[in-house]
Amino acid sequence: MLEIRNLHKRFGDTVALDGVTLTVEPGQMFGFVGANGAGKTTTMRIAMGLLESDAGEVTLDGGKIGFDQRVRIGYMPEERGLYPKMKIGEQITYFGELHGMTPAVARRATDEWLTRLGLSERAGDFVQDLSLGNQQRVQLAVSLVHEPKVLILDEPFSGLDPIAVDTMAAVLVERARAGVPVIFSSHQLDLVERLCDSVGIISAGQMVAAGTVKELRQKGNRKLRVVLEGADPSWADRLPGEVVNVADGEWVIDSTDDDQKLLAAAMNAGRVVRFGFDEPSLVDVFREAVA
Ligand SMILES: Nc1ncnc2c1ncn2[C@@H]1O[C@H](COP(=O)(O)OP(=O)(O)OP(=O)(O)O)[C@@H](O)[C@H]1O
Ligand SMILES: [Mg+2]
Repeated sequence: MLEIRNLHKRFGDTVALDGVTLTVEPGQMFGFVGANGAGKTTTMRIAMGLLESDAGEVTLDGGKIGFDQRVRIGYMPEERGLYPKMKIGEQITYFGELHGMTPAVARRATDEWLTRLGLSERAGDFVQDLSLGNQQRVQLAVSLVHEPKVLILDEPFSGLDPIAVDTMAAVLVERARAGVPVIFSSHQLDLVERLCDSVGIISAGQMVAAGTVKELRQKGNRKLRVVLEGADPSWADRLPGEVVNVADGEWVIDSTDDDQKLLAAAMNAGRVVRFGFDEPSLVDVFREAVA
């Protein structure tokens, strides 16, 4: 289990982290989301031990993370970290060896990952000659080759085509199901919603919401969707609540007031085709949380 407790970090006058706490359980896929500059990369760098926090701690299975634990983490840095002039097969093997694998075992693992990620044909190519998405696949192979106990991935999905997204997602889900705690940051909330058991939203260095996707959506602000036939648009002018969208006989209303009163008004205005609450999407929850 990866535990991050009450991290604080300043860069000069900038407060990057202001008490960040989160936990990733074994087998859990944790989606780390937040606006640009919110503190995701800083948190992950501190977790990986690449940056010192001013306060707070990071533990793995209850123990402080030192060198021994760090070599068991699979990490994908935001700035990426491949050697452009090294062949991709050699590079993956090299990183495996850096993490303590024997050359033979590292080579075997490299072959497996190259096949799995559809890169076998490219094993002898230089990293700099690969497209961005293929470089990212190599980056994934590098972070996985040593069979890490924990995965910390900073925006692993950025820049990938839909097929590569599926490949990346399948690998991460498989690792999580094998019992590995996986944390990744992403701005692609549809993916986070689809993949993650748990989501944390960070804003200005503070965790402003956390929980399962379902919990977050249930806590979010539901909106009423009313579809009417034959209604004069002015029916909505005097409603308790704010009309946030209207198009083609469909009204979306933000109201915490009496829904029965709204229903009566709708029935008065025309034929009610649909009347119900929309659960907020993760995007809606995100907008509210960081507003
Ligand atoms: N080395 C640094 N020196 C100075 N300020 C920094 C440094 N690293 C990060 N910061 C600042 O810390 C804050 C958090 O940045 P961080 O990179 O963690 O955000 P992020 O959530 O990863 O954003 P993004 O979604 O854009 O990747 C920002 O205000 C950033 O400018
Ligand atoms: Mg970042």
